[in-house]
Amino acid sequence: MHTPVAIIGAGPSGLLLGQLLHRAGIPNVILERQTPDYVLSRIRAGVLEQGMVELLRKAGVHERMDAEGLVHDGFELALSGRRVHIDLKGLTGGKTVMIYGQTEVTRDLMAAREAAGATTVYQASNVQIHDPKGERPWLTYEHNGETHRLDCDYIAGCDGFHGVARQSIPADAIKTFERVYPFGWLGILADTPPVNEELVYATHERGFALCSMRSPTRTRYYVQVDAEEKVEDWSDDRFWNELKARLPQDLASKLVTGPSIEKSIAPLRSFVVEPMQYGKLFLVGDAAHIVPPTGAKGLNLAASDVSTLFDILVKVYQEGRTDLLQRYSEICLRRVWKAERFSWWMTSMLHRFPGADAFSERITATELDYFVSAEAGRQTIAENYVGLPYEPVDTQPEEALHVTSQCA
Ligand code: APR
Ligand code: PHB
Repeated sequence: MHTPVAIIGAGPSGLLLGQLLHRAGIPNVILERQTPDYVLSRIRAGVLEQGMVELLRKAGVHERMDAEGLVHDGFELALSGRRVHIDLKGLTGGKTVMIYGQTEVTRDLMAAREAAGATTVYQASNVQIHDPKGERPWLTYEHNGETHRLDCDYIAGCDGFHGVARQSIPADAIKTFERVYPFGWLGILADTPPVNEELVYATHERGFALCSMRSPTRTRYYVQVDAEEKVEDWSDDRFWNELKARLPQDLASKLVTGPSIEKSIAPLRSFVVEPMQYGKLFLVGDAAHIVPPTGAKGLNLAASDVSTLFDILVKVYQEGRTDLLQRYSEICLRRVWKAERFSWWMTSMLHRFPGADAFSERITATELDYFVSAEAGRQTIAENYVGLPYEPVDTQPEEALHVTSQCA
């Protein structure tokens, strides 16, 4: 079998790229290791930047998002009891975010792909990449006990942090940058009304907490826990008590508790690989970078990578502009590093670091106070939170600031 674009992974990156390509008349095949149900069972973040919302509209998968998603004009910071409103709309000239779960985005993309009749091979195991630097790269995979071969022009590695795509690149052709944080997030999903109309990011001497939501009747709440904590040691009661202790009094007294539908602990990590391409293999989304969830940038960064690769592939197939292919990584990395910086900053400002001395704690509290007390500081937070602009693919390199990486 031959397809122009072979996509590894049917998470949001692979499905969104596949849908955009399909609508542009560029056939593609997705190989996914898991079943659709398994992919949909993963609970992830739920804040979509305006750029991602527009991209989903371009992909034609906006109907349910526009009907059921919640547009948020702002969010709150609760700084040891003091509540600060970040007016996203007012501070960014009208930009907002959309509260709509990644699971729902994935569900909509899967339905659109099925309706389009595009091929997705689920439960494709042992995917291997062959000759990514050659004229005609190809993949092999196993399905129903048989080995198959898929020839293609280009490969999109949309297979997440643990996928095969990045691991197929020789170690001396890439450089990785990583920070592992000494804590995790314990998260629960519950059918309770949100404690506040907007998301609340709280910092407290007991640690960070986040009050998020999926709908007016479903909440997603998190508390910072030590990296070694076990989810079995956290009863629902213990979770609710800890969350209450970290929220300002007025919010804590309004908190409605209830049984958890899901409860899990996620580690926090920052990770970037440079470059994000190797010959005809392009790394997209979590395959190339991870951010800690403070700021909800993971899914949104995946979307901006998809947008860049899609725009380049359209130029390739519609105009024969193959020169742009080598610019994929540098374009993506400029935006990736800015989101990495923001996620790291939000994480550093709002969490308690075990062993931090009194001086560091005062500096962090002062930096936060300095930022939120001035409009310029709040504006910086707001413009990053709603998402920095996507870079066009056909500007000249001289026009773009700070080239962060060379292409392979
Ligand atoms: N072969 C085929 N498929 C694979 C392989 C493999 N070797 N390894 C992983 N996959 C699949 C996974 O099963 C998963 O469905 O690739 C998909 C990757 O999806 P995600 O991990 O969700 O990554 P991505 O699509 O880049 O999504 C962006 O943003 O909010 C963050 O981490 C969050 O998932 C989110 C990500
Ligand atoms: C979530 O709703 O799961 C969520 C929201 C905002 C974040 C992280 C996670 O920063």
